[in-house]
Amino acid sequence: MFTKALSLALLAAVNIVSAADMPTISAVGAKFFFSNGTQYYIKGVAYQLTSLDPLTNVTQCMLDAASMADLGANSIRVYHVDSTADHDACMSAFASYGIYLWLDLDTFDSQFNQALPAWNQTQLSAFEDVLDEFQQYDNLAGVFVANEALTLLNGSDTAPFVKAAIRDVKAYRQSKNYRDIPIGYSGADIPSLRPMLQNYLACGSDPADSADFFSLNVYEWCGQSSFDGSGYNELVQNATGLQIPIFISETGCRIPKPRTFDDMDSILGKDMEDVFSGAIVYEWIEETNDYGLISYGPKVNDMTNTAALDGYIRTGTPMPVSPDYSNLKGHWATLHPTGVALSAYSASASSLTPIACPSSTVNGWIVDPTQSLPSVGQTIDLAATSTGGLGGSATGNAKPSSTAKKGDAAAMHTGNEVAGMGVGLVGVMLGFLFWL
Ligand SMILES: *[C@@H]1O[C@H](CO)[C@@H](O)[C@H](O)[C@H]1NC(C)=O
Ligand SMILES: *[C@@H]1O[C@H](CO)[C@@H](O)[C@H](O)[C@H]1NC(C)=O
Ligand SMILES: *[C@@H]1O[C@H](CO)[C@@H](O)[C@H](O)[C@H]1NC(C)=O
Ligand SMILES: *[C@@H]1O[C@H](CO)[C@@H](O)[C@H](O)[C@H]1NC(C)=O
Ligand SMILES: *[C@@H]1O[C@H](CO)[C@@H](O)[C@H](O)[C@H]1NC(C)=O
Repeated sequence: MFTKALSLALLAAVNIVSAADMPTISAVGAKFFFSNGTQYYIKGVAYQLTSLDPLTNVTQCMLDAASMADLGANSIRVYHVDSTADHDACMSAFASYGIYLWLDLDTFDSQFNQALPAWNQTQLSAFEDVLDEFQQYDNLAGVFVANEALTLLNGSDTAPFVKAAIRDVKAYRQSKNYRDIPIGYSGADIPSLRPMLQNYLACGSDPADSADFFSLNVYEWCGQSSFDGSGYNELVQNATGLQIPIFISETGCRIPKPRTFDDMDSILGKDMEDVFSGAIVYEWIEETNDYGLISYGPKVNDMTNTAALDGYIRTGTPMPVSPDYSNLKGHWATLHPTGVALSAYSASASSLTPIACPSSTVNGWIVDPTQSLPSVGQTIDLAATSTGGLGGSATGNAKPSSTAKKGDAAAMHTGNEVAGMGVGLVGVMLGFLFWL
């Protein structure tokens, strides 16, 4: 009885503020703006309670959203959702607390595989299904086509496939007349790779081919550090001139304990607020990796307890991990960057020019920025790669990437756009094959 009454009360509360009443978020130049013209800075938490979709249980969503609002969060990041589930109640629950969603479009069976770089129709269709489901919610802030698809410098041959995914999901968004939901990428914490990847995804003269934003997972500010000591100053230097928004999609370091979150003063303060659009803290739930801001109860050793996984309870009332939670809350309570009004910024935004594409280096960043992006269905020709892909030239009568981009989305479903392509087409300094 009590539970039912509580659920009904929660649902009633949820209905008061619908997800449809929130200002939407879009990328303009190098910044994000609410549709009312105020600049948007992310104060986020990574929210993934198990490997399953966390946005289907409204009772749980309400409990967590209320606690996140107390923490001062305005955003969550979710890594895995089920596009066939109903998300209305949870999206409204978060909306009722002013909380936006950053969502990974990929999941375990649709994500990129660095060992065999490819971009195929199965992946694209899965990404489209997720976008179809979530585009209806005004508090969808943006989506990632991948998280940490490249983790090794020698994995740079995956970058063209990531950029192809961005191109194709953007084309799909336009074809469906969805609003300009920002579509971007979340990069791994690899300083030797990151600046090239960031600039590669952003560069090029046709905005339809480039990311709407870049974001990076950063674990560099540990314990007592500083803007200069942490290397965050280099993050700003390396993002200067980037014509799209950039933010931290995961932070931060948890050793030494406790986490003090002093980096928030730089990210959301004068050190970085001109270039960065905030950060998402990793992560909400305390689990084996020990990054949690809250727990749902003490660790359990009873492996028959179905509410627990790996000894951690996964549902219930969130309880702050102390003092980490209050440390973060304390920082966020004092940080209210206002940035610039859209009306004052839009003229200069439209005069921004794309950042230069990174040049390729032997044994380093091997992507040739002058080569066209792969089409749906292409994969790496490992043989061509190992027998001297470097310096290889484009062969075959491939249509330029703009064909897939500007053609109607239906063409992609027929696979027509790959017809006539020769095996051995080089879209990077590597060979591509395509799936048949
Ligand atoms: C725009 O909306 C945001 C989010 O609701 C709010 O914080 C901000 O104050 C609003 N700005 C204006 C000018 O109303
Ligand atoms: C498409 O890519 C996914 C993810 O890499 C892979 O699991 C799947 O087997 C591929 N499908 C086809 C038809 O090639
Ligand atoms: C890439 O580098 C990793 C280690 O840094 C290595 O294990 C892997 O074999 C390399 N891959 C290729 C294709 O050379
Ligand atoms: C900034 O870019 C330089 C040059 O590419 C690179 O060596 C450095 O590691 C980058 N710094 C960070 C923090 O990403
Ligand atoms: C939904 O969340 C509530 C609150 O934590 C929990 O009691 C319930 O078991 C959850 N329901 C499902 C189906 O997981």
